[in-house]
Amino acid sequence: MAKQTHRIGILGSGNIFGRYVTGLAAHFPELRIVRVGDIDVARAKQAAADHAVPAWGDDAELYGDESVDIIVNLTPPVHHARTIITGLDAGKHVYVEKPLATTVEEGRAVLSAAARSGRVLGSAPDTFLGSASQTARRALDEGLIGTPVGASAFIGHSKAETWHPDPRFLFQPGGGPVMDMGPYYFAILVNLLGPVRSVTAASRIGAPTRPVTAPERAVDSVEVTVPTHAGAVLTFASGVIATAQMSFDVWDSDLPFMEIYGTEGTLSLANPNHFDGDVRVRRHGDAEWTVLKPAFALFGAVGTREQARRGLGVRDLADAVEGGPHRANAAYAFHVLEALCAVDKASEEGRVVELDSTCERPQPRVSD
Ligand SMILES: NC(=O)c1ccc[n+]([C@@H]2O[C@H](COP(=O)([O-])OP(=O)(O)OC[C@H]3O[C@@H](n4cnc5c(N)ncnc54)[C@H](O)[C@@H]3O)[C@@H](O)[C@H]2O)c1
Repeated sequence: MAKQTHRIGILGSGNIFGRYVTGLAAHFPELRIVRVGDIDVARAKQAAADHAVPAWGDDAELYGDESVDIIVNLTPPVHHARTIITGLDAGKHVYVEKPLATTVEEGRAVLSAAARSGRVLGSAPDTFLGSASQTARRALDEGLIGTPVGASAFIGHSKAETWHPDPRFLFQPGGGPVMDMGPYYFAILVNLLGPVRSVTAASRIGAPTRPVTAPERAVDSVEVTVPTHAGAVLTFASGVIATAQMSFDVWDSDLPFMEIYGTEGTLSLANPNHFDGDVRVRRHGDAEWTVLKPAFALFGAVGTREQARRGLGVRDLADAVEGGPHRANAAYAFHVLEALCAVDKASEEGRVVELDSTCERPQPRVSD
């Protein structure tokens, strides 16, 4: 049966734009991009020409386009809350890149706007919907490592100043390793282990200024106004204790991405920024690690451009619009946001921060 068509308007035509266009076209052609809008209209025009998007213009034209059902919001994080609310109030469903917003207050405002509008709001990251994270979820749910006791997560530097033409937003409030890369890791931890109860942390700025060496750079250096190195301890409602190091000062290391430690074994996870990758288990007493069979077919082989493509989260939102389950949903994204914000808060205030929110673990994906 032909899939229902949804008409997508993309808000923001910067660095990640092309990865959504190619990902949606390759995997979900029923999600048809009909317009691109950007406050930088010349950029929207260029993006439309480069990717054969039929209509382009400023942000207001996108909100006002009656033919657009779903807005895919690819603006920088500090613009997320305002642009999400404007989109919802214009009657559109909205899928926003991570993080949902940059503060808990903004996140709450966004949740209220979604409830008021009756539209569906979804948020990246969507990599937890990939085969690697879902394989880990199945292993945990089947008790392969017994009862989870602890977890570790290590976020190294994405080296954005070497490849992003304008990485300023990554070193300002709303950016930093916690808000930029943390969503991938925290979303997977919550998907695997359930909601977080409390967070304590310490963080600091590494260097106050950083040179930008990206080939087509818009600026030669960035001022750093958010912590770039943080260590946190998360206590989950289940009692699991996770330690997380999140850093733009760790350029190289041999640390794993993430591990879960259970009463009967250890689970070693793939790169949380990728959909696919080896998930390994070593039960107590095993002589070596075993790579688990993926829960379902890979989105694309690890090391290929497929891993960088985006669109699975937009498909997830479209499923919800059609009455199906919504996994990358706003309540889950808000809980992840509150846990991320608690890292800075705990560090600044030198205390354990109890979270107000909770959420359900998203429903597992059992097939493609
Ligand atoms: N670049 C990446 O590799 C990457 C990867 C994963 C997720 N993301 C996320 O994607 C989002 C965008 O990142 P990016 O790297 O593409 O940023 P970018 O700065 O390259 O592009 C952002 C675009 O949004 C436009 N914009 C800003 N405010 C706007 C507004 N109010 N209305 C409409 N357009 C507006 C800007 O003019 C610009 O063209 C961020 O949330 C980021 O966390 C980026």
